[in-house]
Amino acid sequence: MTAIEIESLHDLYALLQRRGDEQYTGEPVTHRAHALQCAWLAARAGAPDTMVVAALLHDIGHLLSGWPGTPSADGIDDRHEDTGAWLLSRWFGPEVTEPIRLHVPAKRVLAAEPAYCRALSEDSQRSLRLQGGVLTGPAREAFFARPYAQAALALRRWDEAAKKPGIARWELKEAWAVVEQVHARVRRFANTAPA
Ligand SMILES: [Fe+2]
Ligand SMILES: [Fe+2]
Repeated sequence: MTAIEIESLHDLYALLQRRGDEQYTGEPVTHRAHALQCAWLAARAGAPDTMVVAALLHDIGHLLSGWPGTPSADGIDDRHEDTGAWLLSRWFGPEVTEPIRLHVPAKRVLAAEPAYCRALSEDSQRSLRLQGGVLTGPAREAFFARPYAQAALALRRWDEAAKKPGIARWELKEAWAVVEQVHARVRRFANTAPA
């Protein structure tokens, strides 16, 4: 499957504009609504702006792969958490990329809670199996030892809550202002860091 070419943050914005209206498979929301709801929930919780960006872009990997429809329905794990984190590392630091990279392992940790597991949609339960199921034993301990484990768990809670029609309180332009603000700070820091 051909991957989508993204060279700039503008390309990323254009991708969300272009494919944002596609239905988030198995959920009653579009990709754009899911992203905006997740970012809005992070902002409402008082999360740092880097987490708002992580929430907005946590599933961008789904749109990068070029797979149409639902890869999990074809028995494919598209590894969207890795693709997204890898791409975003061009413009952002680990405060943004690591919660994204860990949002699937966080789901596998939270799935040990029966209530959490029961609340997952059919598609999310199917992808959970493809992603390796509930995380247990040393792998679970290793997850909690990662620096951004708690951030990933918080992101995952907003992720699950961001699948209800009608709770998107932001427009993409509004949320994108936060993306540009965080990116400008990363660039400023890079320019002032000692060589
Ligand atoms: Fe995801
Ligand atoms: Fe998501």
